[in-house]
Amino acid sequence: MNDSGMTKNRELVKWVEEMAAMCRPDRVYWCDGSRDEYDYIIKIMVDSGLATVLNKGKRQNSYLFRSDPSDVARVEDRTYIASRKKDEAGPTNNWIDPEELKKTMKGLYDGCMRGRTMYVIPFSMGPVGSHIAQIGVELTDSPYVVVNMHIMTRVGSKVLDVLGENGVFIPCLHSVGKPLGPGETDGPNWPCAPIEKKYISHFPEEKTIWSFGSGYGGNALLGKKCFALRIASVMAREQGWLAEHMLILGITSPEGEKKYIAAAFPSACGKTNLAMLIPTIPGWKVECVGDDIAWMKFGSDGRLYAINPEAGFFGVAPGTSMQSNPNAMKSIEKNTIFTNVGLTDNGDVWWEGIGYDPPAGRIIDWTGSDWSKDGGKPVAHPNARFTAPASQCPAIDPAWENPDGVPISAILFGGRRPSTIPLVHQSFSWNHGVFLGSIVGSEVTAAAISANIGQVRRDPFAMLPFCGYNMGDYFRHWISMGKKSATDRLPKIFYVNWFRKNSAGKWLWPGYGENSRVLKWIFERVSGGGKAVETAIGYMPTADAIDRSGLGVSDSDMAELLDLNRDDWKREAAGIRDHYAIFGDRMPDELKKELADLEKRLG
Ligand code: GTP
Ligand code: SPV
Ligand code: MN
Repeated sequence: MNDSGMTKNRELVKWVEEMAAMCRPDRVYWCDGSRDEYDYIIKIMVDSGLATVLNKGKRQNSYLFRSDPSDVARVEDRTYIASRKKDEAGPTNNWIDPEELKKTMKGLYDGCMRGRTMYVIPFSMGPVGSHIAQIGVELTDSPYVVVNMHIMTRVGSKVLDVLGENGVFIPCLHSVGKPLGPGETDGPNWPCAPIEKKYISHFPEEKTIWSFGSGYGGNALLGKKCFALRIASVMAREQGWLAEHMLILGITSPEGEKKYIAAAFPSACGKTNLAMLIPTIPGWKVECVGDDIAWMKFGSDGRLYAINPEAGFFGVAPGTSMQSNPNAMKSIEKNTIFTNVGLTDNGDVWWEGIGYDPPAGRIIDWTGSDWSKDGGKPVAHPNARFTAPASQCPAIDPAWENPDGVPISAILFGGRRPSTIPLVHQSFSWNHGVFLGSIVGSEVTAAAISANIGQVRRDPFAMLPFCGYNMGDYFRHWISMGKKSATDRLPKIFYVNWFRKNSAGKWLWPGYGENSRVLKWIFERVSGGGKAVETAIGYMPTADAIDRSGLGVSDSDMAELLDLNRDDWKREAAGIRDHYAIFGDRMPDELKKELADLEKRLG
């Protein structure tokens, strides 16, 4: 049927009609979520030259897309939290008055879908029908978005069934912002609008998302960062739960005991890799629940339960290899969409750090040009991505679709810090753990378009670009969550840093599968064991507490990894003071006290 007859939800039909009247597409198509639909939309893009069919023997049912060279990552400078009051968006978000922003954007949306189809994508974030799941409907003129949403979320008629006549949904409007004139077609160019016309807008009071001008990742797949983090963080605060930029993994000891861990690291700082890691220590097993987003609610037993609201992985391709992340490599063997990677002569993909040399023959880079080894240009864009169904991960956790979620024993924070921050430390308490989350810093990566790549910036809870309201209030919300349950039921909180460097600028820690050694200590700590010393910054492992059997990390490197340099930390504390000052009177007293206590302990 693929029209509005698919639903009896009057609100939905009315909204689609209104948006279609504004955007004026040539036709409106309602997605049923079927495999036939996926194949049909892929075919449209193959025919127009937007998609390249990959070698069926090597990459069954997989396709390559190349974006416009200007449209390669999230655009944080063009991302807005349009609350009625500027103060509600807070000092870390871009703000425009919602009335003014809507006026500007209505001007842009006016007729923006001419010559195109408007796709209506009903989607569920979380297992369809789960009490933790939420429904959204994305309207888009990008068939690329439709096929990605098919993989990343649960899409189609089954969602409309749950929505029913009166169910509520988050309206998500998206346009690439490039109407087609009569006879004009796209291929092979990826349509988008120039940077000054891009707007990734959120209306937190209305719980509405309007995105214009970009077709890439978090700018366009609106279930992900826009809904599951920015809007969901607002809902979570109102309703007493947490929407976080966190992976979720299950770890099982040689004795067969299993615990779940959630971890927040900024974009391109290792969530997908940690979520899928294969432990190098014998007898341990890690399984993946999710690699990017966690929604967490207290269960009746007082423990925090997490679901992964997504259904797929939108992972960083460069650096992914059989060496670094075999589970990701196996997840992308088939049914995968690749964006901005290289293309080999035999119709396979290639990228920097894939673990083997580029094969002989012609290589086409992510811009569509012939690539040569000596040209000094990368084959893949640093933010090139794969989109693959989570169900294809060999290490997917048996409970990954459990509608009630999995109980979380530990929460990790981390980022790329070349100095100062040791390999691992543990908070003294929940509030001290919230403090650790609030001070996360990391080198800026290619996951967002920025002139500051490589510079350290504060990224509290790895949520700086994703918090839908005032971050001071967000800190307060985290403090209040700790009061909802007994201390022994709450997850323990840790800070990890895989990225510490020596004076020669080399990473001290091998990372990837070896991170299991740190997870083992964390597992022991939450089980009441694990050797630790109390330091000025928290509990830290003793020199022998991290299992180094069979690992080539020397005693002196280990000492440097766990070194707590007071001068560095005094500088850090001063930096935290500056960071806290930004939030003015929204900064919770509990965290100011944690900072004062740290300063006192540092002497
Ligand atoms: P987003 O999808 O942007 O949220 O990123 P992510 O946090 O899932 O990061 P991902 O796991 O994709 O890793 C990003 C980059 O960091 C890749 O190039 C990895 O190779 C690299 N990386 C991941 N884990 C480690 C590690 O333990 N050590 C080192 N040195 N690099 C790592
Ligand atoms: C991130 O940048 O944190 C991502 C990729 O996970 S995107 O979907 O583009 O936000
Ligand atoms: Mn992410």
